[in-house]
Amino acid sequence: MFSLFKYWKNITKPTHYNVVSLPGESFEFELKALELETEGEYMNLHMYEKLQKVHEKHDSFVKKNPLLNQAGVFYKNESLPPLSAFAYAPTFAWADLCGTPSPKNVELFNNSMAAKSVLVITFANRFRRPAGLDAAVQAFGAVKYMKHKLSSMTFLFAEEYKCKTKGTPMVMMAFTNSKTLVGVVKRGSPVKSPRVTKSNPNQLKLFRKVVSLINKGFSNERIMAKLKLRKMELAGYKAARTRELRGNGRNMKKS
Ligand SMILES: C[S@@+](CC[C@H](N)C(=O)[O-])C[C@H]1O[C@@H](n2cnc3c(N)ncnc32)[C@H](O)[C@@H]1O
Repeated sequence: MFSLFKYWKNITKPTHYNVVSLPGESFEFELKALELETEGEYMNLHMYEKLQKVHEKHDSFVKKNPLLNQAGVFYKNESLPPLSAFAYAPTFAWADLCGTPSPKNVELFNNSMAAKSVLVITFANRFRRPAGLDAAVQAFGAVKYMKHKLSSMTFLFAEEYKCKTKGTPMVMMAFTNSKTLVGVVKRGSPVKSPRVTKSNPNQLKLFRKVVSLINKGFSNERIMAKLKLRKMELAGYKAARTRELRGNGRNMKKS
């Protein structure tokens, strides 16, 4: 997520911007985003947590951390509002809901984000109570449904993965209304991905191993340790996997 955020910043060069997120138990992305803020930039960070016990647990950490405890940073014990609330400035929103694409959840997102914004949504990819869902979501699946709902934005990619703790299948999808960012992401992944071809069988084997471990829900750290990969190498394989999932898997073709 942080790679996409860095790309977004480098390409769209926002000066006054919002970052919207659900940090849950980890403030890693949020802290990195704050560290990247430079002189002359004005970033508002809006973090939401709907569960009181989770908010209470992390509120003192937020208050004690000098990066998080500053003007323009908000950690609220509230539900994520509709993203149109941030339409006054370019926004990078990571709605890491990991919940079902229920009517209440899908209604949070529409086309009314400010120009040069990015929206990343994660939904559970398997639903226990499909009867509670919109018929169109059931019929088409969360990604197709959101592509249709966000028709004024450009779909960047979707990636399936498993939730670290519970192993629940999830899908992360990214959209933007920045034409320049679309161009860069479509030309090639932000991360230089390996050439995984028939003429390079070792890399193809390694790629399949990486995909298998991701699908089993292994963390990045465990995959790197198990396959003796460096961070950037793993990022390259993950980018190649994303392209394969997008149906654009020229790099992975066996022939
Ligand atoms: C999957 S976790 C976030 C993980 C985090 N982004 C990370 O990188 O580890 C989602 C968190 O958001 C909270 N949450 C889920 N839906 C929400 C909503 N609609 N509004 C506010 N908080 C929500 C959950 O209680 C949970 O703590």
